Amino acid sequence: MKKYAFTVLGFVLAIVSFSQNGEGNAASKMNDPKMQWWRDAKFGMFIHWGIYSVPAGKWGNTTTYGEWIMHTAKIPRTTYSALAKEFNPTQFNAEEWVKLAKAAGQKYMVITSKHHDGFAMFGSKASTYNIVDATPFKRDVLKELAEACRKYDMKLGFYYSQAQDWYHPGGAVSGNKDWDSSHVGSMEKYIDEIALPQVKEILSNYGDVAILWWDTPTNMTKSMTLKLAEVAKQYPQLITNNRLGAGMGGDLETPEQFIPATGFPGRNWEVCMTMNGHWGFNAWDDRWKTTKELTQKLVDIVSKGGNFLLNVGPNAYGVIPVVCQQNLLEIGEWLQLNGESIYGTNASPFPFLSWGRATRKGQVIYLHVFDWPTNGLLNVPLGNKIKKAYLLADKSKNLNIVPSKSSSQIQLPSYAPDKMSSVIAIEFEGEPKVLPLPTSGKLIVASSTDSTSNTKNLNDGNPNSKWQAAKGNTNASLEIDFGTEYAINAMSLVEPWHPWSGIKQTHELQYFESGSWKSINKLSTDGTGSTESFKVIKAQKFRLLLENQKEAPSIGEFILYRAE
Ligand code: GLC
Repeated sequence: MKKYAFTVLGFVLAIVSFSQNGEGNAASKMNDPKMQWWRDAKFGMFIHWGIYSVPAGKWGNTTTYGEWIMHTAKIPRTTYSALAKEFNPTQFNAEEWVKLAKAAGQKYMVITSKHHDGFAMFGSKASTYNIVDATPFKRDVLKELAEACRKYDMKLGFYYSQAQDWYHPGGAVSGNKDWDSSHVGSMEKYIDEIALPQVKEILSNYGDVAILWWDTPTNMTKSMTLKLAEVAKQYPQLITNNRLGAGMGGDLETPEQFIPATGFPGRNWEVCMTMNGHWGFNAWDDRWKTTKELTQKLVDIVSKGGNFLLNVGPNAYGVIPVVCQQNLLEIGEWLQLNGESIYGTNASPFPFLSWGRATRKGQVIYLHVFDWPTNGLLNVPLGNKIKKAYLLADKSKNLNIVPSKSSSQIQLPSYAPDKMSSVIAIEFEGEPKVLPLPTSGKLIVASSTDSTSNTKNLNDGNPNSKWQAAKGNTNASLEIDFGTEYAINAMSLVEPWHPWSGIKQTHELQYFESGSWKSINKLSTDGTGSTESFKVIKAQKFRLLLENQKEAPSIGEFILYRAE
């Protein structure tokens, strides 16, 4: 656990003033034609690369740093900038990276053009603190990647840290605690003389740029964001995220390191995630997610209508860690076989499936079976006639379908053909008929409610509208009486915070039986919400007990799912 303390601290320090749940124009971006390729693409590669890969996560005796090393270890500018002289990644080969992303089935790449440390990974006229002028390597990484991306038909995006810049005087410092007095300066001046010209450079010097990925809008004012937004606007096809600042919003939302319980219906969103616990290269961090975990995360995200931007942190030689390469190649193999169930699909018509996930393309629903039923029968809670069912891995064999009233059962082979996710395609007639959520539209009674919120927000299908208990309470309960017995086997909670807020909330789901409340599940989360499965419980009344460590308990959506 200790190992990750600094990364987590990094996030906490990054306390930012933008809304994770998106702002004003995000919803209208769904049908924007410029987003079409991105919506179909689903899977991209995030690259965090900079001179922080030289210390590789270690400073003094501490080995837990990443790209925040300069900030967390409070390294003076002159000491840190000397790393540039050691940065000579001669094994960097842009074509190999692009080919790797291709083989992984990724359709776009986003690379850090300048992270918070202020070091530009491209030749810049605005500052000599860049890879061409300040390193023995002298090569423009963005230029080489842009060329390789063009050659292999890969979309390319640039991450740019517009606000935080711990090198150039005046750049913002998260936590507002400058550790080096030579860095103190005017942020306005930094924006005008560094950020603005550099953003112009990255958008105009490398051919078509597909995405501009802003980050941590610390201390951004309206006028600063407007100046930068103005530049981005010159490129009508450019996709921007929601991290520019001062309430500007963007084309997409960016849940970081977590998958939102219900996704963000009606909005474009992209989960960015690391494969271990760091964005930048850390030679000591071996807590790699498995290929299976990553593949199932991709499926989970796509089933909720989002994209997955999966990070790699190349080392100081210019090599993407071998574990990452292997993971990516295996995901790519899975996509080779199952790609039609991912690319160009829409979110699942089912709110929840206890055995896995689903995606949809027109009259085909793809069933992603994570937990293969031991009795060989897969319950599909779809009221429509299923015309045909087959494994994507073996389209020649039709599977037997046993229809019943509001669902069907599909007879499966005795064991799962794929250890990551076995995909079954079903072709059906008409619009999907799926039973409504048991909780939707039902009265939920809260122990107290703040005057600015409403219990109706708990089941209005909108994760952004929240219910909050009355101020001064740190405990609350939510009770629902279905009026009749329901068979429930899972619950989702959407919480309105981000892990950065540092808010912990504990919840316990209970059901009422023979005159008393009995516990189903208890969990503590950090504001990201959760989805929890449990054995089927038949009851009429359910109750959620909440305890919040910091403020009045709050929930965006409270959903109970019926057993299929
Ligand atoms: C965070 C961190 C940063 C990382 C980014 C990726 O905001 O500050 O280091 O680049 O998230 O989403």
